[in-house]
Amino acid sequence: MEEAKWTKMWLDYHRIYDGDMDFKVALDGFAEDTAVIANAIFEFRKGIEELTGVKVIDVRKDRVIGNLKTLSIKKTDSVPPEGYRVAGSDDGITVEASDERGVLYGIFSIIRQIACGKRAEEVAEEASPSNPLRMMNHWDNMDGSIERGYSGESFFFEKDEIIINDRTRDYARFMASIGINGVVINNVNVKGAASYLITDRYFDRLESLSEIFGDYGIRLFLSLNFASPIEIGGMDTCDPLDREVIKWWEDKIKEIYDRLPLLGGFLVKADSEGRPGPFTYGRTQADGANMLGDVIKPYGGIIIWRCFVYNCTQDWRDTKIDRARAGYDYFKEQDGTYHDNVILQIKNGPMDFQIREPVSPLLGGLKRTNQMLEVQIAQEYTGHQIDLCYLIPLFKEVLDFHTFCSPEKDTVADVVSGRTMGNALGGMAAVINTGNDINWTGNDLAAANLYGFGRLSFDTELSSEKIAREWIAMTYRLPDKEADILCSMLLRSREIYEKYTSPLGIGWMVTPNTHYGPSVDGYEYSRWGTYHRADHLGIGVDRTDKGTGYAQQYYEQNAEMYNDPATCPQELLLFFHHIPYTFELKTGKTLIQHIYDSHFEGEEEARKLAVDWDSLKDLIPEEAFERVKERFDLQLDNAREWRDQVNSYFFRKSGIADKKGRTIY
Ligand code: GCU
Repeated sequence: MEEAKWTKMWLDYHRIYDGDMDFKVALDGFAEDTAVIANAIFEFRKGIEELTGVKVIDVRKDRVIGNLKTLSIKKTDSVPPEGYRVAGSDDGITVEASDERGVLYGIFSIIRQIACGKRAEEVAEEASPSNPLRMMNHWDNMDGSIERGYSGESFFFEKDEIIINDRTRDYARFMASIGINGVVINNVNVKGAASYLITDRYFDRLESLSEIFGDYGIRLFLSLNFASPIEIGGMDTCDPLDREVIKWWEDKIKEIYDRLPLLGGFLVKADSEGRPGPFTYGRTQADGANMLGDVIKPYGGIIIWRCFVYNCTQDWRDTKIDRARAGYDYFKEQDGTYHDNVILQIKNGPMDFQIREPVSPLLGGLKRTNQMLEVQIAQEYTGHQIDLCYLIPLFKEVLDFHTFCSPEKDTVADVVSGRTMGNALGGMAAVINTGNDINWTGNDLAAANLYGFGRLSFDTELSSEKIAREWIAMTYRLPDKEADILCSMLLRSREIYEKYTSPLGIGWMVTPNTHYGPSVDGYEYSRWGTYHRADHLGIGVDRTDKGTGYAQQYYEQNAEMYNDPATCPQELLLFFHHIPYTFELKTGKTLIQHIYDSHFEGEEEARKLAVDWDSLKDLIPEEAFERVKERFDLQLDNAREWRDQVNSYFFRKSGIADKKGRTIY
């Protein structure tokens, strides 16, 4: 057999214990021959055989020797949609669910529990998803490149063609195993050949892809070019209120659904960073989104409309324009005008996936609109999957944030799940970090973010540590002590990255375009509106009521907290305030001393991460060990560079020396 050319990440099972009895499968209420159930049984067979060495016998075909345990799969209304109840006993394991996805997730829960150390007879869990939609957004281009991709090329596209191979199925297995139920395969910046994904040229392959996905409970979505009527339809307008345009879309969507009945719908980036949109015709975002929503409605499709709309040609002299304000300023006014099969997809922070940002005030600021949280597990600003940065703690902070949008159920997790407002559509999406590298995620440890996002979107109550421990147990077979070391590395990594890059919520200071490595003023004198506004006296952006007024976009409790430097959480101080270098922080340190200390500490702590990794040498498969080790070497260079450039920049700006007299250039 040919060696697989890619790893199986957390689905690469190791023998955990030797089971004593083979299994048979009994179905009650589910049909055996549906693809999802067949895949669920396949996964159970593969998992239980590899983890415990017992077989799953097909009693119709195989000769039965001795007693068998039963995997019994039962349909019941007492479990919510997509949920499951699994229970092991001496007789076998029962999976109860109300639908096929629930069965699949239940089986993966069994596998996970056994891989994490339980015996088959001990497995027990009852769970149902926190979020209706749990999605991955690929930024894959059809030429095979990936926007902000750090793990090789696309495994969906190559030279403007769609790739379907064994890897496609493995991908679907990974996604199902963590509860993902929707995948957008192409970049939100839809150009060139990608505009033609909704034409006959690609329907056959897309149909196959949607079936492979569907068999693992995943719906295929596409990113859409709002200007399709012009680009592929030959019209001279894409005005969403133009009758001809609407007619064009009606015909187009019908044609699409005739060929792709399983399609979930479309993701749209409009009027953002040069993408076309309704603004060109003096129409609103709602006009655009609702038109598409109405046209797709008869097919059960949904429109996911991104809120990343801002002026990217800002004049630095205009201190009233604030990129952070843009999303709320624009979309808040339209609250309640979006149709019920339209969802607004909102980035976690008001800027752009920085290592630390406040939560977007649109989340919960909108009270009568379906909304979805967008996070990025591709490490665009957080180390390019070179630097270790476990992002689940960041996502947890966002989910746990109290918006005060309602007297109860007011966290972001409540809002996007639909619990606060009772909406049926909502959830979480992640810009994914995969590519065709052998290990899928470039850095093997970045798979913890991939795994973690799925698990967290399924159950927003899970802790970052629990998720990290599961991923470690499933991926590597480490003794307790070493598992603790790796877990601690993951849990420390985000703060370490923050310490040696941009402190106290200031963000940016990255090399323009690539977004890796330091360039303190790289974006300061450009048009993107991403300033730090450092001068010889201080640094930070005044976003209070005396500044840009951004803080006032939050509900009162949060607005007041952020507005005052005394109550503003320290880690966001410079996001909201322009602060003198001599200002004394709550820790008793001056701001400038904090900047120096955190950069020295961050670099030192990054070195400790690398040392910790070395201590796992003989316990991690060699190739994986080496891949990660190489990246730690690069991370240390990066950390040093950040430390030295940032410290020397602020030393020269402020003229204030480091109290501890360390080397600052
Ligand atoms: C960031 C990123 C772009 C991306 C954009 C988006 O600005 O750098 O590459 O297209 O976000 O989210 O649409």
